[in-house]
Amino acid sequence: MKAIDAKGFKIPIVGLGTWALRDVARIVEQAIRVGYRHIDTAQMYGNEAEVGQGVRASGVPRAEVMVTTKVQPTNLAPHDLERSVKESLAKLRLDVIDLLLIHWPNPRVPLTETLGAMAKMKGEGYVRALGVSNFTVALLDEANKVSREPLVCNQIECHPFLNQDKVIDACRKHGMAVVAYSPVARGRAHGNDTLARIGKAHGKTDAQVSLRYLVQQGIVVIPRTNRLERLAENFALFDFELSEQEMQEIYRLAHPDGRIVDWTWSPKWD
Ligand SMILES: NC(=O)c1ccc[n+]([C@@H]2O[C@H](COP(=O)([O-])OP(=O)(O)OC[C@H]3O[C@@H](n4cnc5c(N)ncnc54)[C@H](OP(=O)(O)O)[C@@H]3O)[C@@H](O)[C@H]2O)c1
Repeated sequence: MKAIDAKGFKIPIVGLGTWALRDVARIVEQAIRVGYRHIDTAQMYGNEAEVGQGVRASGVPRAEVMVTTKVQPTNLAPHDLERSVKESLAKLRLDVIDLLLIHWPNPRVPLTETLGAMAKMKGEGYVRALGVSNFTVALLDEANKVSREPLVCNQIECHPFLNQDKVIDACRKHGMAVVAYSPVARGRAHGNDTLARIGKAHGKTDAQVSLRYLVQQGIVVIPRTNRLERLAENFALFDFELSEQEMQEIYRLAHPDGRIVDWTWSPKWD
């Protein structure tokens, strides 16, 4: 499995998203059997226990599977964060959290405090690597300035219908991997004429083209599916290549209303 190296930490380029997944343990187990080595969960999804169960049931050595979880914005004060990480680990019933992210920024808690607590948890062996999610360019600059531990990724909404050039450039400037959530645009990639036509030329589906477009730029993808056959489909991205012209055509699918997940709600914690 191809991986992105961010500051020495390796992130498998295709992972499984688990938000709102049904039958989580079974899908996680099957995904790992198909070859996935990266599972994305979050405290907010309420499924960490099932994710851990699926990882263990797969029979694949623990060290080979990278598990991400995220701390919710109401738990970013140091004391809350430490409690929250210990709770996540207890639910997952795993030895360590491979990658811990701030799920959404919370303007009420100074970043330096949250990142200090995350560094402490890493120092004490609860976590292997740290990152952020839904961070803007300005927040990435601030986080990288104040963090005493390397920040390896920013997990953001990313798919052909949304232009994320500025934040992607900022991630690259800071040596962080971009992890694309909603990489098939919550299913909207399926049925898109352009993606379908390009896919047909390669013997691939519209969703595979959406995912290939991202991985071909070195962007990690974490598609979610409840369907076993789509686990394999979303993983089969490395036996074809999009031409420069096809990449440009997909790039032009982005539009101002392309964002699916409303991230402007975060200041409500203020
Ligand atoms: N950090 C954050 O704030 C944040 C926010 C959102 C999501 N995430 C993470 O990112 C993961 C993925 O994002 P997402 O769940 O929002 O959206 P997504 O993965 O882009 O889309 C999932 C939807 O697309 C359908 N789908 C999946 N593969 C398909 C295929 N090959 N063909 C056609 N349809 C397909 C699925 O339906 P079926 O189940 O019927 O296949 C499901 O309805 C989440 O599960 C979560 O782990 C993080």
